[in-house]
Amino acid sequence: MFSRLLSYFGSDIAIDLGTANTIVYVKGRGVILNEPSMVALGLEKGGFGKRIIAVGHDAKSMLGKTPGQIEVIRPMKDGVIADFTVTEQMIKYFIKKVGSQKRLFSIPPTIVICVPCGSTQVERRAIKDSALAAGARKVELIEEAMAAALGAGLPVSSASASMVVDIGGGTTEVGVISLGGLVYANSIRIAGDKVDEVISNHIRSKHGLLIGDTTAEDIKKNIGSAHQTTDVGEFLIRGRNAYQGLPKEIAVNSVEIREALGDTLDQMITAIRQALEATPPELSADLFENGITLTGGGALLRGLDTLIREETGLKVNVAEEPLLCVAKGCGVALDYIADNRLYLNRIK
Ligand SMILES: Nc1ncnc2c1ncn2[C@@H]1O[C@H](COP(=O)(O)OP(=O)(O)OP(=O)(O)O)[C@@H](O)[C@H]1O
Ligand SMILES: [Mg+2]
Repeated sequence: MFSRLLSYFGSDIAIDLGTANTIVYVKGRGVILNEPSMVALGLEKGGFGKRIIAVGHDAKSMLGKTPGQIEVIRPMKDGVIADFTVTEQMIKYFIKKVGSQKRLFSIPPTIVICVPCGSTQVERRAIKDSALAAGARKVELIEEAMAAALGAGLPVSSASASMVVDIGGGTTEVGVISLGGLVYANSIRIAGDKVDEVISNHIRSKHGLLIGDTTAEDIKKNIGSAHQTTDVGEFLIRGRNAYQGLPKEIAVNSVEIREALGDTLDQMITAIRQALEATPPELSADLFENGITLTGGGALLRGLDTLIREETGLKVNVAEEPLLCVAKGCGVALDYIADNRLYLNRIK
């Protein structure tokens, strides 16, 4: 049924199917959709089965505020598919939305999707099957670290190595790239979501206040800081008093959030150090010259670049539009695939 719906699709597309955000890039047009990877599900009339009520921005605006019969879920977890059926529905919804904007496509598209390098064969298969079920003619998977490097404009085909660290919602991917391939890739399931969780736990244990995911993320974006030189002032938050159950407002400050995040940020630094230790000496020399490039929404955490610079002694640079790098890089990969420049680590 859906292949009929997509029969007017022709331009090839790239999808960054992220834990936090899904971004769709269409060849020749750039990024044309950027929405949270969230789906609101409601009970069918009669109480049997569930149906989709909202997707993307609409679903995110319901987060934490839904009545009992509606739930907002994030079908991607830790960068891979946690709920196959809902992910497939979400991809279909986004592709349909993109296609209906300007009747963009006339034949089913080739879709490039990125996957975390630590994902299993089963998880990769699930992503591929979802896109095929959504009506793709052909699906190519590429590693997220490679997509991030391409999107950040790093000279991936050069003989001089570069390092990219993509900090998303679910995973932090560390990649060292030389001569068009990943010389080293590692993925840890510690990134933006973990930061939010640590902030929530801190607010509950230190201030006795229960807060929702959206508030935790707001704290991170408004006063989150990874380095003392980037601490900013206070931020007022509201939640429910854990003991009396009443609504309450308190002020939190940058310093306490930075201290609470110490261990989590240390784990990211450890992943970077491991990559540096595993890099062949000739390439280490290049990294000294070229430094580290940060991509993904996590790269926007204040002072994270300074912290990594201090801990590694290397230059650290935040890519332009870090949230869009992976999607743009998947778009570049579309061209490479069309030209048969197959040195990209394409995944079967
Ligand atoms: N200004 C900011 N400061 C700190 N974190 C931010 C900021 N803006 C966005 N983020 C965080 O970036 C993360 C989302 O980044 P991104 O869209 O790159 O992830 P994703 O690609 O969906 O996830 P993944 O790659 O792990 O599957 C979220 O955790 C979000 O809270
Ligand atoms: Mg990502």
